[in-house]
Amino acid sequence: MAEITLTGVEKRYGALRVVHGIDLTIAQGEFVVLVGPSGCGKSTTLRMIAGLEDISGGQVRIGGRVVNDLPPRKRNISMVFQNYALYPHMNVRDNLGFGLKIAGQTPDMIAKRVDEAAQILGLADLLDRTPAELSGGQRQRVAMGRAIVRHPDAFLFDEPLSNLDAKLRGQMRAEIKKLHQQVKTTVVYVTHDQVEAMTLADRIVVMRDGQIEQVGTPMQVFNHPANIFVATFIGSPPMNLLPGTISGGAVRLADGSAVPVPPRLTGRAAEGQAVTLGIRADDISPVGHGLSQDGPGAELDLSVVLAEPLGMESLIYTRVAGQEVQAKLYGPRLVNPGDRLTFRLALDRAHLFDAASGRSLEAI
Ligand SMILES: Nc1ncnc2c1ncn2[C@@H]1O[C@H](COP(=O)(O)OP(=O)(O)O)[C@@H](O)[C@H]1O
Ligand SMILES: [Mg+2]
Repeated sequence: MAEITLTGVEKRYGALRVVHGIDLTIAQGEFVVLVGPSGCGKSTTLRMIAGLEDISGGQVRIGGRVVNDLPPRKRNISMVFQNYALYPHMNVRDNLGFGLKIAGQTPDMIAKRVDEAAQILGLADLLDRTPAELSGGQRQRVAMGRAIVRHPDAFLFDEPLSNLDAKLRGQMRAEIKKLHQQVKTTVVYVTHDQVEAMTLADRIVVMRDGQIEQVGTPMQVFNHPANIFVATFIGSPPMNLLPGTISGGAVRLADGSAVPVPPRLTGRAAEGQAVTLGIRADDISPVGHGLSQDGPGAELDLSVVLAEPLGMESLIYTRVAGQEVQAKLYGPRLVNPGDRLTFRLALDRAHLFDAASGRSLEAI
């Protein structure tokens, strides 16, 4: 196990800079998820840690040792890819042990490590089967087992679940989390899926355009997004955004209505400043059908444009100050387009951003 430190890490392809000087420390045993849209530099960053890409600038250290010039096999880390090619003609036991065998380990040691990995991953009864005799989830577990037997300092995962169907993806997500709870090895995990990031991570690193936008626990990133990009990337549906200006301690929206947000939000804003008010669908609900409706709030009469029943809750599309907004109705009640309801905005859960920079104005 080892701490991984990135200091000013850069990647350039000729004149094109795709990773812009990343500073990040991943603690020993920590599960860190790099998340961001496609092309933001997640895989490149991971591959520089693995040694599969040259580092154009800065330093990568694993366990205190600078590894910039070390080949991948000398870094003592295991990478689990999206395509987990197993050897089709070998049984599970031989698939698990193959890497150790070519590294020249003794049969005794290989058998011990294979048994241990099989125990951890629940593969003990499947050791004599070939990959063709396994389900997709079992194959994925064998792929992880091949990484475990090496006793690496860290596991690196690059979108390991994106080829799986939704149900299996959910199962494997739980397996990976259980695996980490058992072995407590440092994990760096790349995904574009914010749900995977939220559910797996000890800490999330949100990336955009080769830069880090925010680092924090899932709850920090969800409850205190540093900017509009993070606010709309983390959470589903994306946070509603309403443009306005600060006027007498309230936010005046495009239609002239004033939303009296708590001083905590406006404390760092100047009178007349152009701002963006952010509020999640979960925090706009018809009166009597919200999660928690006893904090500071504002009530608005709004018309339902569209309702999507989801069982015990419905997603409601409505409009506020000329802008489409999504709201949540909790409970099995059915509503229809055209219905007019009183909605309550939970303003203690609202966010305020500077319109020009997109940065949060919240004093944390
Ligand atoms: N070999 C390459 N040459 C030039 N540009 C590349 C190369 N590999 C990746 N890139 C660019 O680097 C950026 C980051 O890519 P990548 O790390 O794969 O993103 P992600 O994994 O976040 O989707 C992208 O814009 C991609 O087009
Ligand atoms: Mg990628």
